[in-house]
Amino acid sequence: MCGIVAAAARREVSEILLEGLRRLEYRGYDSAGMALIDNDRHLLLHKKKGKVSELERAQALDPYHGCTGIAHTRWATHGEPSGANSHPHISGQRVALVHNGIIENHSALRAELQGAGYDFASATDSEVVAHLLHRELEAGRSLLEAMRAAVARLEGAYAIAAVDTQHPEEVVGAREGSPLVVGVGIGENFLASDQLALRQVTDRFIYLEEGDLVLISPSTIQILDVDGRPAERSKTRIEAAVESAELGDFDHYMIKEIYEQPRALAATLLCEPDHSISDTAFGERAAAILDRVQTVQIVACGTSYHAGMVARYWLEELAGMPCEVEVASEFRYRKRVQHEGTLLVMISQSGETADTLAALRNRSEGEFIGSLVIANVDNSSLVRESDLVFLTRAGPEIGVASTKAFTTQLVALLMLTIVLGRRRGMTAERERALVGALQSLPDHVQETLMMDPAIEELSGAFIPKRHALFLGRGIHYPIAMEGALKLKEISYIHAEAYPAGELKHGPLALVDEDMPVVAVAPSDDLLEKLKSNLEEVRSRGGQLFVFADIQSGFANEPGITVLPMPHCPEVIKPIIYTVALQLLSYHVALQKGTDVDKPRNLAKSVTVE
Ligand code: M6R
Repeated sequence: MCGIVAAAARREVSEILLEGLRRLEYRGYDSAGMALIDNDRHLLLHKKKGKVSELERAQALDPYHGCTGIAHTRWATHGEPSGANSHPHISGQRVALVHNGIIENHSALRAELQGAGYDFASATDSEVVAHLLHRELEAGRSLLEAMRAAVARLEGAYAIAAVDTQHPEEVVGAREGSPLVVGVGIGENFLASDQLALRQVTDRFIYLEEGDLVLISPSTIQILDVDGRPAERSKTRIEAAVESAELGDFDHYMIKEIYEQPRALAATLLCEPDHSISDTAFGERAAAILDRVQTVQIVACGTSYHAGMVARYWLEELAGMPCEVEVASEFRYRKRVQHEGTLLVMISQSGETADTLAALRNRSEGEFIGSLVIANVDNSSLVRESDLVFLTRAGPEIGVASTKAFTTQLVALLMLTIVLGRRRGMTAERERALVGALQSLPDHVQETLMMDPAIEELSGAFIPKRHALFLGRGIHYPIAMEGALKLKEISYIHAEAYPAGELKHGPLALVDEDMPVVAVAPSDDLLEKLKSNLEEVRSRGGQLFVFADIQSGFANEPGITVLPMPHCPEVIKPIIYTVALQLLSYHVALQKGTDVDKPRNLAKSVTVE
């Protein structure tokens, strides 16, 4: 949520900063800005409402040059998206500052700073930090000490980068609750909110810890810990990603990422030559924790929460393991009573989602026997702070709508079901069958992708609609929820998902000839029940779009359009049906002309509450 890039180099950095912003833009795209210090120690500033391309245009028309600079792409929290509210914020014509996160005590600080004579140019919470830093610098402190004194006044979450014309070769940074990473170069160093922004210039990174302060110059990196003591942090070399963050031949990241799923799913499935799943897939220490698990508590947000809901069916039905699932924003503030032996499982593509992270950090002593995160981003906060880690191998997911992250999470969760199920009497034969189903998954997803033209054709029916209902039963109810979330997120069509048996308890009142109803209808134990529910829709004139395999026995008739799905093992059906629904929402959005990869009001990584 928002993106920061900063550089201290001996070469011109404006293009490095702009490229970094392009790579981070999926995190926020309400406005963008860049501040450079030129050779004469002048502060040069471009700020634009809208996307990074607007900033690029400003830089092309009026090029600024400098070897030290900071840049930002914004997802608005305090203050509307506008030029004035975009970062960097300036203080006293010497300090420029960019900030991710939320400063909770900004009103009190603003009043105090106004009292001290500071004028505010924006409605943001972030501007107070620029003025605080300026005040400390004017008091004669070094850049690092001034930042230390400034952040000591802050309540809330932040990743900050700032420059000062009187320290023209340096950039100072701070993190608390929002990620910040140092990119280590040769004769140049960088800061960014995500290493992805800097992969063009380095593959060596230092992940800052909570409360750290950092000062970079072209030749030095100085880190202070939360107590102000010099700190050593290890460097990590990041291997080149198998999937690149480039668009290649695709028109959008979302469709690229949908098509990457066969490879991503195959890469995520870690199985042994005897078709078993090793405990060590979840970390070296996994066995000792997994042996003690009596019950599982899953916590996640958005699409990752839907993955958790699917997992509950697997854990309870296949592993006999009690499981609760809750959205993190509710879980974190609830007074809870946990069963003995509960494993806390967090699911998060980014590994940085503020609410999910808070669920981990706010747990009480002894509340859980351990924590496990399923994440797609190595070295993310959740990965670094959990006892056990499973990294999905989806590769970078840039489209705001989560696709391959979700399906790879499901692979990880079925693997978890197997290792826990083994402890509750799952036979080796059953385990081999489940692993075999997972191994067949990439082929079945490939087959599903071949439905793309048929789904594209069908999507036209949704274009004039303002609402849609998604129905499923059992394990396919969360898949219906995921389908509805995808549609509303990128096409702005209001979509709701219901367990089909609930229709007659209220939502049936909405059904008429204007209401498209999407049914996730594979042949399973609940199919006959679902069919009765769909009849209730048909008899009220609703238009049905049924995703079903041939065994389900649906046929095209007036009022029913059937999308024939590939036949596949029952346990992987939720994944196969998800892929078809991803394609549906993509094509609807494409025809509606919305910004598929950067839907309005959203951002990829939600690092604020
Ligand atoms: O990074 P996370 O998986 O923790 O993110 C959680 C949600 O913000 C995310 O899944 C969101 O719902 C997606 N945009 C849905 O497509």
